[in-house]
Amino acid sequence: MMERIHITDVAPRDGLQNQAVPVSTAQKLALVERLVAAGVNSVEITSFVSPKAVPQMADAAELLPQVLDRFGALRSSVLVPNLKGLERAHAAGAREIAVVLSATETMNRKNINMGLDEATAVSEQTLQAALALGLRTRAYVAVAFDCPFEGETPLERVIALSRRMAEAGAHEVVIADTIGAASPGMVKERLNALTQAMAADQLAVHFHDTRGMGAANAWAALEAGIRRFDASVGGIGGCPFAPGAAGNLATEDLVLLAERSGFSTGVSLPGLLQAIDLAQDVLQRPLGGRSMAWLRRQQAHARDGAKGATTR
Ligand code: HMG
Ligand code: MG
Repeated sequence: MMERIHITDVAPRDGLQNQAVPVSTAQKLALVERLVAAGVNSVEITSFVSPKAVPQMADAAELLPQVLDRFGALRSSVLVPNLKGLERAHAAGAREIAVVLSATETMNRKNINMGLDEATAVSEQTLQAALALGLRTRAYVAVAFDCPFEGETPLERVIALSRRMAEAGAHEVVIADTIGAASPGMVKERLNALTQAMAADQLAVHFHDTRGMGAANAWAALEAGIRRFDASVGGIGGCPFAPGAAGNLATEDLVLLAERSGFSTGVSLPGLLQAIDLAQDVLQRPLGGRSMAWLRRQQAHARDGAKGATTR
């Protein structure tokens, strides 16, 4: 039997948070619906952050209950930067949250207006409070490779912060390449060290694809024993507070890579293309990861084949 990898699609949160075009709650719900139809069983839905900081996420308290109502079996995570975010998420019915800790002083200040020590303490408190509420928890360790302000992030610090997040109760620690600066060699080195320090099953990875190395980095993570991946359908994404951050590793690229390499994902590529069609209509521009041109050709062949079959 093929080994399964677990994918969390972060498009409704990471993908939409920095878009110039306003996206309505109904359009976000429709995107989640297409992801579910494609077989995605874990989605990061939104974030409970300051609407002044991230206006696209201002409808979090309206969107989440509708998602929970419509897609009861879906793992629906939401990002919360602090206790206030947790309180708002809990009031909206959240069952899973993610805190966001950056591994450098400056990135934390730019992202959540706290220094590293305060951000670490607030993330720990938020995780503990979420656990007390019976929620499932994830903890991002952002800029785990390079920081746009401070350069290469020391590996020992990434390991120490990851352990602290796990000790505070994070069910999953998400090692994030915020600006897409990692390379497969660096991913291999860092994840081999991290899997010495904690269980591989407690770790997930979150790659951005700025330099075209997202899929290669995912392969390096697979080889290091990681089986939990974030990705974003159509490759949309990027943190508004990290200069130079481009889109995430595209879910379709990850699914193609994994399935062509003997892993199962439970996710359908034609289904993802339907989700991308919708996202393109909403965002009014072409989307898609590195494999998009080939996937569209396959889709056209399949359509022509089906037409041939019905007319013959
Ligand atoms: P602040 O201004 O320092 O907060 O912002 P404050 O505690 O001084 O409060 C200021 C106001 O914000 C107050 O309201 C608070 O009530 C309110 P006022 O009295 O002025 O009316 N407030 C909130 N409102 C809604 N939800 C909340 C909340 N907290 C306080 N949770 C804060 C601090 C963290 C709120 C702000 O900096 C913020 O919201 N930042 C957003 C960060 C963000 O969303 N970044 C993008 C996501 S992270 C990312 O993309 C990286 C990731 O993908 C991984 C990777 O790729 O590396 C996860
Ligand atoms: Mg991200």
